[in-house]
Amino acid sequence: MEFIGQRPKKETIASFRDHVSSGKAAFFAQYGMDFVPGRRKGIYLWDVGGEKRLINCHCNGGVFNLGHRHAQIVDALKRAVGELDIGNHHLLSEQRATLAARLADLAPGDLPYTVFAVGGGEAIDFALKLARAHSRRPRVLSAQGGYHGHTGLALAAGDPHYRDPFGPMPPGFQQVPFGDLETLAAEIGDDTAAVILETIPATLGMPIAPPDYFSGVRALCDQHGALLIVDEVQTGLGRTGKMWAIEHWLETASPGPVPEPDILATGKGLSGGIYPIAATCYRAPLNRFPHDHPFIHISTFGGAELGCAVALAVLDISAEPGFLQHVNELAAQLATGFDQLQARYPQTLVEVRQLGLMCALVFPDETCGPMMTKLLYEEGLLAIYANNDPRALQFLPPLVMDALEAEEALGALDRALAGLSHLRGWQMNH
Ligand SMILES: Cc1ncc(COP(=O)(O)O)c(C=O)c1O
Repeated sequence: MEFIGQRPKKETIASFRDHVSSGKAAFFAQYGMDFVPGRRKGIYLWDVGGEKRLINCHCNGGVFNLGHRHAQIVDALKRAVGELDIGNHHLLSEQRATLAARLADLAPGDLPYTVFAVGGGEAIDFALKLARAHSRRPRVLSAQGGYHGHTGLALAAGDPHYRDPFGPMPPGFQQVPFGDLETLAAEIGDDTAAVILETIPATLGMPIAPPDYFSGVRALCDQHGALLIVDEVQTGLGRTGKMWAIEHWLETASPGPVPEPDILATGKGLSGGIYPIAATCYRAPLNRFPHDHPFIHISTFGGAELGCAVALAVLDISAEPGFLQHVNELAAQLATGFDQLQARYPQTLVEVRQLGLMCALVFPDETCGPMMTKLLYEEGLLAIYANNDPRALQFLPPLVMDALEAEEALGALDRALAGLSHLRGWQMNH
């Protein structure tokens, strides 16, 4: 290998500490998690030292939907490097045109236009800029505990503890409880440019909104002329068993309005875990402003042509007949496994939230999520608790996991739950 394990692991950790993040190095040392990702393939990650292997059920929030180094994705990038480069963000582009048209084909509703970005935060920033420029209104409503990224406007739409240390934020942002139409109705007004929501707020521990929630949000937006922005950065591209999570609510909308978004942001998995790319897709009527000001929003690397080639390969795989069927079969297998674990550890695993392979396991108190992260790490599985609700463990397996691998993951969960139950003196049924 030319890149992995070229120096002793201790030296890598020291150099990371001295030159990248002393805080992260200290954090992982404190918790005895000195894992440095080395070799990676499919659902697995190996430590550079080679002794430890992890099943990746964190997947960077969906970046590794297709597992690590999916052969078709790696091949697409290799072939693209043979002909393409980043491209020029000021000029026309065959690759961006092809990818945008493909996204429009697959979009939930009529979203013919796409502006590309490097990452999800940037895609959200553009969504919010577009909403404000189009509506000429200042206010943006988002969900408490939601997360849209750490860049400018995306940060302003998020929770105070991520933004307060950084001084005054742009005005006009306000948060309301997720799933609560009454409060939204009280806050939305004729000065509201947009309501922005994750379809399932991952960082909040993945609460699943009731079937009529998004049609209720859509109705309030329509009533006040506000736009509906759906953040599918984590939930999109098959994660929930449909191409886009919002499709679940499109089906259940009756008798309310069909909650098609005005703007949809995607990212993470669009990269295939190989080349960063994100996208903001939007309705035709919103194109007036970008049409009149085509150079007012610029991203040098957004929609890099190499990334477009990779993203097209991702969409080809995700739209293959059978892909979503596999996701739903795997989701059913895990649901059965979670049921059994709940029966075995009734005081420990108090709730399971699941839509497709977007899963959260919920425990009695806030110490449990971090403890489960550590216990699972010891059992060879990477899964991280939800930052805005540490009672919940996010469980995001690669969508390409097979049935045997799923059993292996459930086995690790079983052992970690036994460990937590033992530590806390909670009931275990055999
Ligand atoms: C729902 C959601 N939106 C936006 C983002 C920001 O994406 P990025 O980190 O690529 O900027 C994230 C990242 O975790 C996310 O989970």
